[in-house]
Amino acid sequence: MATEPNAVDRPVILSVESAQRVFRMGEVEVMALRDATLKIFDGEVLVILGPSGSGKSTLLNLIGGMDRPTGGKVLYRDRDLGKNNDREQTMYRRYEVGFVFQFYNLVPTLTALENVEVVTEVARNPMSAREALSLVGLAHRHDHFPAQMSGGEQQRVAIARAIAGNPSILLCDEPTGALDIRTSREVLKLLLHFNRDMGKTLVIITHNAAICGIADRIAHIRDGAIAWVKDNDKRVPVEELDW
Ligand SMILES: Nc1ncnc2c1ncn2[C@@H]1O[C@H](COP(=O)(O)OP(=O)(O)OP(=O)(O)O)[C@@H](O)[C@H]1O
Ligand SMILES: [Mg+2]
Repeated sequence: MATEPNAVDRPVILSVESAQRVFRMGEVEVMALRDATLKIFDGEVLVILGPSGSGKSTLLNLIGGMDRPTGGKVLYRDRDLGKNNDREQTMYRRYEVGFVFQFYNLVPTLTALENVEVVTEVARNPMSAREALSLVGLAHRHDHFPAQMSGGEQQRVAIARAIAGNPSILLCDEPTGALDIRTSREVLKLLLHFNRDMGKTLVIITHNAAICGIADRIAHIRDGAIAWVKDNDKRVPVEELDW
């Protein structure tokens, strides 16, 4: 039942072209990304799968504008992010990208609402922080601090924060890595909701192959290179994911 347009019929939102990232520490060079080439299509769900140390977070840092490649290019809608100055990179991160991390990265001294306001106060076209918390089912918890919430709830606050700035892309680095399977399904369900109902391009980086079930496309990263990319022709409802 092919009701969704094929990803390749959609415009390219991000293009990674032979990207390389070498870290130099004195005499030692670490080739974190050797040769990564990948297109990301507007509105798709892309799961980037790879083992520990394969370069997943390094790649995410490049496409999220937190770092620049030492070779090759990363283009966002034809704009070369490597040529952005620091201020342009900040604007790119602030306006175009929502980040979700494995360990939530909430500010411990701020309430749930204040954590979301960190983004809404600087965004160009934000939703209200209260609305964002309602969308993740946490309207009743806005005065609570991260330490008063479970891991799954903290991740929902982090998702509210990511979505509140009204970004084009949600970049998620092991978003369920610290959660049990039931909570993981809830988190993935929310992320898919923002993809389907709000059109956000969703990129999930993981070493957990089971998560590939929800992807439109799957990219495999190995030893700092994208080894293959394929359409997922066996999409699985979130409720049926298992590991
Ligand atoms: N800032 C850095 N300085 C030096 N080496 C780095 C740096 N960041 C990453 N690396 C190295 O680059 C390689 C890829 O790291 P990366 O964090 O991208 O892997 P990963 O796929 O995200 O792994 P994991 O699943 O464990 O998070 C590793 O060998 C790592 O040690
Ligand atoms: Mg990583």
